[in-house]
Amino acid sequence: MNLEELQSRCYTPYSNSPDAVIVQSESGKFFPGIRIENISFPLSITALQCGMVICLSEGEEPKKLFLPEGYESTEKHLDYWTNEFSLEFVENGQIDGEASEILKTSDSINSSLQRLLDRSLTPYSQFPVSALLVTSNGFVTGVNIEFSAWDLGLCAERVALAKALAYGIDTAEINALHLHSRHGDFSSPCGACRQVIVEHLPRIPVCIHHPDGTLSRHFSSDLLPYSFKSDFLKKNNRQDTSE
Ligand code: THU
Repeated sequence: MNLEELQSRCYTPYSNSPDAVIVQSESGKFFPGIRIENISFPLSITALQCGMVICLSEGEEPKKLFLPEGYESTEKHLDYWTNEFSLEFVENGQIDGEASEILKTSDSINSSLQRLLDRSLTPYSQFPVSALLVTSNGFVTGVNIEFSAWDLGLCAERVALAKALAYGIDTAEINALHLHSRHGDFSSPCGACRQVIVEHLPRIPVCIHHPDGTLSRHFSSDLLPYSFKSDFLKKNNRQDTSE
């Protein structure tokens, strides 16, 4: 795994500015972080945010960051993370190691979702959520991760999707999204997750495993009617008239 290879996995149709980082955990494992933009720009995930939530969602403690040259100028929250987690960072550092394994194939979907809840980091909400993407090669899992800077945390659904993209999984190979929360009468993906899901996975079944044991099933596109779409925003399609 290297930064250049990871840059090719970024989703940056609006800026054409891919960015990637690698997070190394205390136990020596490597986790990829890629920039994932959204048509609603404020919902974009930075490379560092992506790498940090993936590492933490796998139950690992982040220790060291490998950043591309000049990354400091593009990531305004670098100081927050390095201070909050006492991280060292290496600019333009080469790493020697493969990304850690994330696909799990054992157990049923429901029991995986239940077990996963223990991985969520929810010191502020005490509301654990688990998510699982079904791919042809197994499950890609996600849990919600919260930080003292609330806006940098991510929901379980977006952690699972970010993980799939960062590990180079083609979204065409994702067949369904399952999610589960322990509390409340009824689970439901938030608006921000619906916006992100519909952009990457416009027509997959979303199966919601409610706390009372019941299940609802919807198509992702039905969860966000009249969603925001505009071809104008795609850099590749736009004629630059500023000059
Ligand atoms: N949360 C999710 O993980 N998924 C959703 O769709 C709804 C909200 C999390 C985010 C945060 O950690 C906590 O629930 C409370 O908002």
